Amino acid sequence: MASIAVCPGSFDPITYGHLDIITRGAKVFEQIYVVVLNNSSKNSLFSVEERVELIREVTKDLPNVVVDSFQGLLVEYAKSVNAKAIIRGLRAVSDFEYEMQITSMNRVLEEDIETFFIMTNNQYSFLSSSIVKEVAKYGGDISELVPRPVKESLKEKFTKLHNQE
Ligand code: PNS
Repeated sequence: MASIAVCPGSFDPITYGHLDIITRGAKVFEQIYVVVLNNSSKNSLFSVEERVELIREVTKDLPNVVVDSFQGLLVEYAKSVNAKAIIRGLRAVSDFEYEMQITSMNRVLEEDIETFFIMTNNQYSFLSSSIVKEVAKYGGDISELVPRPVKESLKEKFTKLHNQE
């Protein structure tokens, strides 16, 4: 049986922290579906299509990674691609409570799907999409935080937004 995992997230936008988790997950599972969950309760900077496009660009050298998007319950998406595993990254103890909540909920919804946690490399333990957007918004250097296509898209996005003000 192929080991298929889903790596879900908002990815608004993908950072080196996410990429680290995806790359390490891709060494363990035969196939990984990186899926952008269209979570309507969040105000996103990038559209779902833009986020998918950026993830595709920065994972193009990982042959067992497929990038997709979905609106609905994560476990429903996992079932649709025959995935028995969910991969989540853990940066610090502060992530634990939130992750425990969503893992427990997913288990109630579908007990046959297991969640696996990968500890983020220490160098990315402070990194989040929100912090990257904050720094990029005010023109800070984000070269060490996100891959080049993401850096360029952020620059373009904020230039456009500044010009509208
Ligand atoms: O990158 P994020 O924002 O921490 O990812 C959270 C995400 C998208 C994985 C989570 O919100 C999710 O799974 N949303 C889909 C809806 C769902 O399945 N909800 C039930 C479990 S909380």
